Amino acid sequence: MRAVDIIRAKRDGDALSREAIDSFVSGVTDGSWPDYQIAALLMAIVLKGMTPVETAWLTDAMSRSGEHVNLDAIPGIKVGKHSTGGVGDKVSIVLAPLAAACGVVVPKMSGRGLGHTGGTLDKLESIPGFRVSLSLDEYRKMLAEIGCCLISQTETIAPADKALYALRDVTGTVESLPLIASSVMSKKLAEGSNALVLDVKCGRGAFMQRPSDARLLARSLVSIGTAAGVRTEAFITRMDVPLGRAVGNAVEIAECIEVLKGAGPADLTALVVRLATRMVRLAEKVATDEEAEARVRSALASGAALEKLRALIKGQGGDPAVVDDTSRLPAATSVHRLKAESSGCITALDALLVGRAAVALGAGRDKKGDAVDLAAGIMLLKKPGEAVSAGDTLMELRYNDGSRLNAAIALAAQAAVIGDKAPPEQGLVMGWVHDSGETLFVAGM
Ligand code: URA
Repeated sequence: MRAVDIIRAKRDGDALSREAIDSFVSGVTDGSWPDYQIAALLMAIVLKGMTPVETAWLTDAMSRSGEHVNLDAIPGIKVGKHSTGGVGDKVSIVLAPLAAACGVVVPKMSGRGLGHTGGTLDKLESIPGFRVSLSLDEYRKMLAEIGCCLISQTETIAPADKALYALRDVTGTVESLPLIASSVMSKKLAEGSNALVLDVKCGRGAFMQRPSDARLLARSLVSIGTAAGVRTEAFITRMDVPLGRAVGNAVEIAECIEVLKGAGPADLTALVVRLATRMVRLAEKVATDEEAEARVRSALASGAALEKLRALIKGQGGDPAVVDDTSRLPAATSVHRLKAESSGCITALDALLVGRAAVALGAGRDKKGDAVDLAAGIMLLKKPGEAVSAGDTLMELRYNDGSRLNAAIALAAQAAVIGDKAPPEQGLVMGWVHDSGETLFVAGM
């Protein structure tokens, strides 16, 4: 089929046939579709959408563009995790070792930063020596010996997604339910997990800003996983405000270590405990959620989860001493302190603007292939609900390249809103889509 006819069909709002979708995915994988035609079809999909059937075909074709890892030789139910992406979203780096310390085997292929959201792989690469590109044999060995592994998609896993992901990042085609669902699930179905816990981010700093869209995405992800025989559930979690206090790469690794030492921010710790509890349940390690949560809290309190992170870093060639001494991580040469202009209480902290400010400092990419400054990032000293006095530091902008600072300040300065009254406390988890239905924790979703 001719690429131009497929693009025209989607531009005009037609549903694509399975043959057209297969032809597109083969063209992406074997390089016969040029980037401009791929980007044109991606934009048409963003604007015109896809039916659930088209989305399932697209996922299947992308997943079959490479190999599926077989982890049957490793005993137990393997439980994967994936987030649709947020600002300060470092959950996987805490969660994988925590769940592994509870006896769960956690196969995990992660991504790089996408748009204003950070990527687990970029964060991990700030650990000196850490290798994210392991072979599938090394991946299996890590899982058998340590119980967790955080790697990049190998060349042979969903190569179509790898190519599309990089192009979507720089063509304004990330924010689309069928494209996100097919991207996430094509990898997840290939990485060897028997069960999956997904974190669908919702709000200003997420690709799904409206709760109703996040709910549709969560349903789509769960139904694709379930149809493929993988027990899948999705939490919809709030992403209006960055998660934790660190946004960037090395700064986020330092915060992950704090969480595993029991001294991390409350929002991040609570979310990690919630997701780890479900992973322990899905792995059928215990019979109730209460027992699962007790096991998770004990792995945190005993330091077992921290030791698992140390083993993970060592196993992937990184410097395990960062766990004891985070000054071994890359540090920025300069800091700009953004001050409060008035006194009161922080009423909002826009995750999208903070994410863009971090990218402006160099923590993310503007275009395909750009290098990331692993030390650049933002520390949020004041978060919603906290009191401030005029002149207090709201955020630290840490940077190496001074030519980037003004753009970052312009974005960051608009992110924090100071008012008179503390905003109402809102739980992070808005909803949970699982195999027996949907549980909503927020009205009007
Ligand atoms: N994470 C992915 O793997 N893909 C997307 O499209 C968005 C988030």
